[in-house]
Amino acid sequence: MMKFNYFYQQVAAFFIVIIVMLIIMGFSFLQFSKNTTYKNTETQLYGYAQALVSGDLQKNQLDTGQLILKNQEVTLTVFNSDDLMIYPETVKTYKSGVSKEDFEKLVKGQRISLTTRQTDFYGNDRQLAIIYLPFFTKNSNIFSGFVAVSSPISGIEATLTALRNNLFTAFLFSSLGAILLSLLFAKYQVNRINRLRTATHTVASGNFDIHLENNHKDEFDDLAEDFNLMAESLKASQEEIEHQENRRRQFMADVAHEMRTPLTTINGLLEGLKYDMIPDNQKKRSVELMHNESKRLIRLVNENLDYEKIRSNQIFLHKQTFNLKETFEMIVEQLSLKAAIEKNKLVIDCSPTIEIYADYDRFVQIIVNLTQNAIQFTQCGEIRLIGMMDARQTVIKLSDTGIGIDPKEVESIWERYFKADVSRKNTVYGESGLGLAIVQQLVNLHGATISVESIKGEGTVFTLRFPLEKE
Ligand SMILES: Nc1ncnc2c1ncn2[C@@H]1O[C@H](COP(=O)(O)OP(=O)(O)OP(=O)(O)O)[C@@H](O)[C@H]1O
Ligand SMILES: [Mg+2]
Repeated sequence: MMKFNYFYQQVAAFFIVIIVMLIIMGFSFLQFSKNTTYKNTETQLYGYAQALVSGDLQKNQLDTGQLILKNQEVTLTVFNSDDLMIYPETVKTYKSGVSKEDFEKLVKGQRISLTTRQTDFYGNDRQLAIIYLPFFTKNSNIFSGFVAVSSPISGIEATLTALRNNLFTAFLFSSLGAILLSLLFAKYQVNRINRLRTATHTVASGNFDIHLENNHKDEFDDLAEDFNLMAESLKASQEEIEHQENRRRQFMADVAHEMRTPLTTINGLLEGLKYDMIPDNQKKRSVELMHNESKRLIRLVNENLDYEKIRSNQIFLHKQTFNLKETFEMIVEQLSLKAAIEKNKLVIDCSPTIEIYADYDRFVQIIVNLTQNAIQFTQCGEIRLIGMMDARQTVIKLSDTGIGIDPKEVESIWERYFKADVSRKNTVYGESGLGLAIVQQLVNLHGATISVESIKGEGTVFTLRFPLEKE
């Protein structure tokens, strides 16, 4: 739903500003016109008076003047030095009725500019604009009277009224224009706000791929720019969250995968003890094996379930040099049960002097994974754990006589969740397709290499090369 509040505010603001301007301009114009009109009348009336005075106020001149000016309703009146009307000649004598101060001014020779009066000299109600001009004797310059020239105010006002009417019409049209202009302005501003609102809604709904066009002109553009920056940083955080979430999920899957093997070993041995299936002379060894495996589990948990390590994806290796054959023997012992189930034979082919430089737990993890795969994909076959050493490195080969890997699939086996045969349901061991991905990661961490050769139907050989400890 659209809200009109701000829109109306803007319309009102623009409209008020424009109207106030029009009113002020109208009034000053009227005032100006009024002043000019009165000024013009005054100049005109003075002109007549001046002409009469310089014509020595001859009666015939006055008569002609009065006759000509009749049409303009201008009247000429002359008073003597006693303020008594001497023209036009009347039976009764009339006074001008000017105030004492004005009369003093006239005596001193000052003219009296345009004034208004409500009655004419005969006492009729007539609104007049009038000027007074004194005159003096030619030679001795003695005040001998004054001329009053008047014009009805209605004449002046008529001009002004016509002007006012014109102005009012102009004002009406301008107001209409102002409304239109205000609407346009307000619409423009509100549109710019609405553009930001739409963008905000888009971001709120989780879509951060938004970019507002920007002309860098005013605060609205600045706001749009800030908005773009905000969307960008929100997008970055969103991506970081997803990235962390993926990493966490991957980590949990890896941990579960690695915990399964020792737990299965311990569980198998416990079952054997429970049903008394383990011969007395092997019981001690079984307990030792379980103890070792549980210790390995604890180390796994301690080292891996550190939140900071998960976040930064750091695994620290505690590398040391240890005997390879002994390690093989431990692993074989641990996996012999599983091998027996698949009727596989586990063979160690390694001289007792061979050593390897690696993180012990990680190394066990690597070999267990590979051996388990070999057991899993071999039936009634032989699996060999081979160890060799030269001046630079320890080479380990893990060969089996199992189903082999299709050449087309060799490249893919390192991928997470890859399984050559998806329909294969082996619930005892591998099922997630994570093992080789983990192995490869661990091998790389060691600065070692791993490669695979396989012939479909004949068997597979994994070769690992671990560099020796540098002196
Ligand atoms: N020794 C092997 N012989 C034949 N195929 C193998 C061998 N080792 C691995 N593969 C193939 O590579 C795939 C990936 O192995 P990987 O260990 O990553 O997963 P997995 O064993 O299926 O499951 P898990 O995650 O439980 O180990 C296997 O599914 C299998 O198809
Ligand atoms: Mg596996």
